[in-house]
Amino acid sequence: MSDTQANLTPLNITEIDPFIDLKAEIDRLRKERNAVILAHYYQSPEIQDIADFVGDSLDLSRNAANTDADVIAFCGVRFMAETAKILSPEKTVILPDMEAGCSLEDSCPPDEFKAFREEHPDHISLTYINCSAEVKALSDIIVTSTNAEAIINQIPEDQPILFAPDKYLGGYLAKKSGRDMTLWQGTCIVHEQFSERELIKLKAENPGAPIAAHPECPDHILRHADHVGSTSSILRYVLEDPSDTFIIATEPHIIHQMQLRAPEKTFIGAPADDGECNCNNCPFMELNTLEKLYLSLANMTPQIEVDEDIRVKALESVQRMLEMSPAAKPIPDEAAA
Ligand code: 13P
Ligand code: SF4
Repeated sequence: MSDTQANLTPLNITEIDPFIDLKAEIDRLRKERNAVILAHYYQSPEIQDIADFVGDSLDLSRNAANTDADVIAFCGVRFMAETAKILSPEKTVILPDMEAGCSLEDSCPPDEFKAFREEHPDHISLTYINCSAEVKALSDIIVTSTNAEAIINQIPEDQPILFAPDKYLGGYLAKKSGRDMTLWQGTCIVHEQFSERELIKLKAENPGAPIAAHPECPDHILRHADHVGSTSSILRYVLEDPSDTFIIATEPHIIHQMQLRAPEKTFIGAPADDGECNCNNCPFMELNTLEKLYLSLANMTPQIEVDEDIRVKALESVQRMLEMSPAAKPIPDEAAA
């Protein structure tokens, strides 16, 4: 708890006064509630700009574990906000839209995951953070795209691994590490939309431009990539590489941070199948808006709740992840340099 008593009384606002300055009101409520606003790189630019901290899944977990705020307003998807609650149960965690789920989480119901584990009793289970609290509670170690390789390298070489729920990230990790990995067959509906044909065309139109891709992409996209990594790793790569144009194969809202930090460079989003649609935008992340963030801070709802038995078990696998993760690498700020 903070020294000053935060005001957590709900205001019960149902309609937003069209004359208020939304950003100023969010700022006022953030102070009054002693709240921290955490945002993932896939959130809209206006949410990223108002957040206290913008980061990848691992950075956001670390931040949620260490903040001394009383309220965490989590602008991301539900599994991320749940992880914040698992790590900081004494804090109030709000998510602007409780429907902000994830196709990977949906692909992995806890009862089916439990049966999967029972079918492979000799395997250690590494589970991508993109899953429910229940699945975290049934897992040995949680990983993110940032730390998965480093964590796998700490597991004895003869130990077979179960990896859930992302088959593409799991396949990429198995190939890189040469490890015996049995994969759950989930996918991210955003990263599986990229078109190899359109990507090859785009590369031909921009011959010197490196391709940076997230490992949630299928192998037919990853094999064209000059760099494969998590959102923070992609961001660091485009800031450190001397090229002036990049093709980005991940959710395109991250390009906002690239443009802020390197305004002289050009970033082109990798195309989806027809080369035209916006289907690479994450439909779950898009549910959070500035209006809903304001309402959630005003009304202190919707709040994330995790059953205490599940939370305590999930905390073990999440804490193991934090203990086994390499230290955070700072993101260079080219524009400020
Ligand atoms: P990272 O930010 O950890 O790379 O994860 C990407 C993602 O899928 C978020 O849903
Ligand atoms: Fe889930 Fe994919 Fe959206 Fe990330 S981008 S939240 S993995 S659906």
